[in-house]
Amino acid sequence: MNELIVLKNLNKVYRMGDEKIHALKDINLTIDKEEFVCLLGTSGSGKSTLLNMMAGLEKPTKGEIIIEKYHIEKMNEKQLAKFRQLNVGFVFQSYNLIPTLSALENVSLGLTFRGIPRKIRDKMSREMLKAVGLGDRLNHKPAEMSGGQQQRVSIARAFVGKPKIVFADEPTGNLDTKTTIEVMDLITTMAKENRQTLIIVTHDVEISPYGHRVIYLRDGSIEKVIENKIKGGAD
Ligand SMILES: Nc1ncnc2c1ncn2[C@@H]1O[C@H](COP(=O)(O)OP(=O)(O)O)[C@@H](O)[C@H]1O
Ligand SMILES: [Mg+2]
Repeated sequence: MNELIVLKNLNKVYRMGDEKIHALKDINLTIDKEEFVCLLGTSGSGKSTLLNMMAGLEKPTKGEIIIEKYHIEKMNEKQLAKFRQLNVGFVFQSYNLIPTLSALENVSLGLTFRGIPRKIRDKMSREMLKAVGLGDRLNHKPAEMSGGQQQRVSIARAFVGKPKIVFADEPTGNLDTKTTIEVMDLITTMAKENRQTLIIVTHDVEISPYGHRVIYLRDGSIEKVIENKIKGGAD
């Protein structure tokens, strides 16, 4: 069986005082190993909520999230943290780098939690930064780099531990068109080389050709699913 992520009747309701926001409504979805999925939809359609739930960052109100044989929705915080460390890489729109740390330290930090010795961590991080084209920026702090370079650091951080799944939430939202293409090519090439599963949230239709499958969300529901035979799907 090639299934990696199975979502069953997933619901998320946010409560704000007396108001209830039904952010996800009965989502049923299966994502395969090594698949590239694009989640597309307007602002507020539930894309980030869905991504955060699959990444074990948020709990559903109802429903199941099964990754391999593990029920994510039943895990406590400690189990979730461990699950994320071992299985998940995350790329954010706003890079989320630590401003006081160098590129190398930012990439290396995620590996400390795995108990990998410093020397090996630094070697892995240096190689990963070289792979994303930042071999000459190892000691630069985030403020000393362009947006595209900062996003490359965050990509290196997401990929360095070779996680099974990489989640990216609007990874090109702050980048110009040229840098967007470079960043998307980088993410998809690395995921393919490492045989990882890639799930990208975007409201940018330009990015959708990169996915094997494009899932359109609307008001918390799956509106339609398009199988791509162009870039990502061509293989
Ligand atoms: N922490 C939260 N508390 C309350 N409402 C939230 C929270 N996060 C998201 N929402 C609401 O849930 C809906 C879906 O949000 P989100 O998943 O962030 O959408 P998208 O990423 O597609 O823009 C929106 O109506 C949003 O306002
Ligand atoms: Mg969002």
